[in-house]
Amino acid sequence: MTQRLAVVSGGIGGIGTQICRRLAEAGHRVVATDLGGDPERVDAFLDGLAGLPVAFEPGDVGDADDCERLIADIGTRHRPVDVLVNAAGITRDARLVKMERAQWDDVLRINLDAVFHLCRAVVPGMSERGFGRIVNISSVNAQTGQFGQTNYAAAKAGMHGFTMSLAREVARHGVTVNCVAPGYVDTDMTRAMRSDIRDQIVAAIPVGRVGSPDDIARVVSFLCEQDAGYITGALLPVNGGMFMSF
Ligand code: CAA
Repeated sequence: MTQRLAVVSGGIGGIGTQICRRLAEAGHRVVATDLGGDPERVDAFLDGLAGLPVAFEPGDVGDADDCERLIADIGTRHRPVDVLVNAAGITRDARLVKMERAQWDDVLRINLDAVFHLCRAVVPGMSERGFGRIVNISSVNAQTGQFGQTNYAAAKAGMHGFTMSLAREVARHGVTVNCVAPGYVDTDMTRAMRSDIRDQIVAAIPVGRVGSPDDIARVVSFLCEQDAGYITGALLPVNGGMFMSF
């Protein structure tokens, strides 16, 4: 089997780390990217995946120039990118009337602009080589909206339109572009919520529990397989039944 190179943004986050693990176990060489400001966090990440072909390259995905630099550096130090998983994401929850401009801008920049920057950097090479897999990590809250998340839901819903449009543009070049939309997953992001609000949300999940990072990672890994080439422009909900639609 050809060993592909996969880049995971937000790679040392809760869901990102598990995506790195699954992709590496599936035979990819993996480069996680994230802010590199906390060396202890990076070391803990790499130690946790010791023995797997996973490297770390620091980058600020909210910065267009840094995204270009990052993808060029990965091409030189490792090999060209075959698989891109956009898992970098932040929340800055507040009701609209209380939301500061910076809370809007930061969420749109990291959760949506970054997807444009990274895809812009990898898509020409993927198209030229005739193979690519792009998976964008969205959210159930893009489908339902959520109290206090006008910024986050707008960014993630924007990701859906972006995904379908890009999927059409690159389908003939062997590149697929899909979204995975997690529900509430056990990560620092959901742990940071007010516990009474989180408990109320979790109580309403049909499956009866929050998701695990691996619930998400295994679906991402499936979409990145060579044989998943007929799935493109799709949104796969992985939300324990929180939102059902067809
Ligand atoms: N539904 C209805 N009313 C709500 C509410 C809710 N979820 N949350 C707060 N309110 C009401 C309060 O009852 C209160 O009403 P009164 O003034 O009539 O008493 C009023 O709103 C308080 O307003 P505040 O602006 O002061 O709200 P707050 O600071 O207490 O809480 C919030 C705001 C932090 C955004 C809170 O609503 C909240 O945590 N919402 C959920 C956000 C959420 O789900 N985030 C997910 C993070 S994880 C993630 O995003 C991953 C993923 O993809 C799923």
